[in-house]
Amino acid sequence: EAAIPMITIDGPTASGKGTIAHRVAQALGWSVLDSGALYRLAALAVLDGGIDPGDEAAVARAAQDLDVRFDAGCIWMGGVDVAARIREEQVGNLASKIAAYAPLRQALLDRQRAFRRAPGLVADGRDMGTVVFPDAPLKIFLVADVQARAQRRCKQLKEKGFSANLADLLQDMRERDARDRNRANAPLAAAPDARTIDSSNLSVDATVKQVLDLWSSLGSRT
Ligand code: CDP
Ligand code: CDP
Repeated sequence: EAAIPMITIDGPTASGKGTIAHRVAQALGWSVLDSGALYRLAALAVLDGGIDPGDEAAVARAAQDLDVRFDAGCIWMGGVDVAARIREEQVGNLASKIAAYAPLRQALLDRQRAFRRAPGLVADGRDMGTVVFPDAPLKIFLVADVQARAQRRCKQLKEKGFSANLADLLQDMRERDARDRNRANAPLAAAPDARTIDSSNLSVDATVKQVLDLWSSLGSRT
């Protein structure tokens, strides 16, 4: 039985993973897994459920029990669309902390793998190529220097009507990068067979093209 085609895109925050994942999926007619959203949903469930964020087993149980449905830009949790709420600062901060818990990561494994359905999947996160989908035929490690990433996030926030300060964003990004790279469980790292793309000086279109070109060159070899 042939494996269902898929592409993983891992990398640090604001390197463009989500944007590129959606564009590539659209071009190929595939679906998308935003794995960071699952960590944010777990964080929201912890906050709303009055769960002790330091209790690793309780946090993992909350993730196991998540009743969530992704549907055309909406994320339904217990009948409420929480797509906007999971983007809040407080939720992102907690997500980044509980993402270090091994029981939580374990609890989310099957849920993530269930997204791999025909005709194909683009999955973005930190450990898609290393842990969750180690057999993915194409693995991208998408990077950009921290200045470029902070500027992109700043622009993105301002466009959405939020206030944003470049110096604060830079500081916050460096802290998050360090947490993601240095944790013991599924740290942010390129899989040995990943292709690294540095998008610091690339447009979205050019980055999408590089990924699609890599995918086609793979197809023509088999
Ligand atoms: O998912 P991740 O946090 O890695 O990043 P994102 O939210 O998809 O992208 C951050 C911002 O960078 C978006 O506003 C993109 O339009 C912009 N951007 C990009 O993704 N890729 C480039 N090559 C240039 C800009
Ligand atoms: O806030 P940011 O855009 O950096 O992250 P996100 O992609 O929305 O993910 C939220 C948090 O979940 C991040 O702090 C990551 O550390 C964590 N995460 C993870 O550990 N593994 C993944 N596959 C995806 C996200």
